[in-house]
Amino acid sequence: MTAPPEAASPPGARTRLLRLALLSLLVGALTATAGLAATDGLDVAIGKAVFDRMWVRAPSSTRHADGLGPLFAARSCASCHAGGGRTTFRLGRDDPAAHPGLVVRLGDASGAGDALYGQELQPEGLGDVPGEGRPAVRFAAAAAGFPPRPEWRVERWGYGAPSAGLRLSPRVAPALDGLGLLARVPDAEILSREDPDDRDGDGVSGRANRVGGGIGRFGWKAAEPTLEAQAALAFSLDLGLSTAFRPDGAGDCTAAQAACRAAPHGAATGEPEVAPALMASLMAFLEARPAPPAAKTGGRGAVLFASVGCAACHAPALKLAGGGVAAAYTDLLLHDMGDGLDDGMGEAGAAGAEWRTAPLWGLSRALAQGSGLLHDGRAANVPAAVAWHAGEAAGARARFDALSAGDRKALVDFVNGL
Ligand code: HEC
Ligand code: HEC
Repeated sequence: MTAPPEAASPPGARTRLLRLALLSLLVGALTATAGLAATDGLDVAIGKAVFDRMWVRAPSSTRHADGLGPLFAARSCASCHAGGGRTTFRLGRDDPAAHPGLVVRLGDASGAGDALYGQELQPEGLGDVPGEGRPAVRFAAAAAGFPPRPEWRVERWGYGAPSAGLRLSPRVAPALDGLGLLARVPDAEILSREDPDDRDGDGVSGRANRVGGGIGRFGWKAAEPTLEAQAALAFSLDLGLSTAFRPDGAGDCTAAQAACRAAPHGAATGEPEVAPALMASLMAFLEARPAPPAAKTGGRGAVLFASVGCAACHAPALKLAGGGVAAAYTDLLLHDMGDGLDDGMGEAGAAGAEWRTAPLWGLSRALAQGSGLLHDGRAANVPAAVAWHAGEAAGARARFDALSAGDRKALVDFVNGL
């Protein structure tokens, strides 16, 4: 009696062999992994290859690397998050139509996507599938005390006029450092900081984004509860690739985009274009991305950061399950930031003016590479970002403005060094 071949090797080894085979397809070289004995290291290496992979249109000779589009915003994760970092895009300096790291989400005030264009503007189309259009911006006079306000439009909509109430929500690609730690912050730690009715009367309320599948924590609006959900969203909206999580091979193509829906897909019927084993490796890669280097704390700037009230939202540390903290300078909650940052588009439980407190760890790297700050990259530096803080952050902004020049510099130097 001959045992079936699978019985000879434990399941872990088989999964490893499958991943090795997939990796060789992806990077074209088994030798690249020869030095990586540990499964973890192997997974991370495969995950990095998936992250860097330039996907191609289907059908192609490399089954595990095709299925791009037919509508898409970029060809790889790394096109927008180069080296796992934030995009360099800065509004006012860079052309948004020429920069993949600036993405335009589409929807109405309740968060429903457009009947014609779906949930995201995909400027690129394959073959006879036209792209959806290119974003453009101009700056309009704003309320007293605020810098000129960006006004967005789409040039040459590829499929005719969108629905009348459609809002554009432009967003930059954030850095992906330390996300494994943010994934390990227990829901209870996030919820303990909520104060939706502002019972302590400090003007800062803050609430968690309760989404299907848990407490949202990823993305500018904390709309996705897990890294896997966020990556599946990126595969679907940004790259037009299906995953077990989002099985539609046509991605964000709507029923009205017939040529897009009819185009060939990258996987056999019933299989996702991104194989589950590759998705698992991508998760290992994302979870393994180290947190930004710890910043110097305890100086005058850090004390002012707390006393002015920045730390009421940009919490210096969140406790992790199993001990330790994430020194991310966020509470992962949504805050109403006022009219200047309101783009009118809702998402999951978040309104147009509500944004997740942006983590400030790694800010020094973003500034060093010239990235614009805030969700659409409109602020060139920390004081410019603070100048847009209103709504729940109005008190902190007023106290920041009232500081002596020396104190303000100490606070800004501290934030610049995070
Ligand atoms: C076209 C540009 C683009 C591509 C391609 C892209 N991303 Fe992103 N990514 C973004 C933007 C923009 C955001 C912010 C999303 C939001 O808030 O709506 C983001 C957010 C994220 C986040 C959440 C970060 C945080 O701080 O919460 C993760 C994780 C992520 N992307 C991973 C990926 C992975 C993995 C891929 C490849 C499968 C990918 N991205 C492809 C632009 C891109
Ligand atoms: C009420 C909560 C709240 C307070 C208080 C607050 N912030 Fe923020 N901060 C946010 C939110 C939310 C964002 C993201 C807004 C957006 O992108 O539209 C943000 C974004 C930022 C950014 C840009 C980060 C990035 O990655 O683009 C900087 C810098 C910043 N805050 C600094 C400060 C400083 C300094 C203070 C104190 C003077 C402060 N904040 C007070 C909620 C707050």
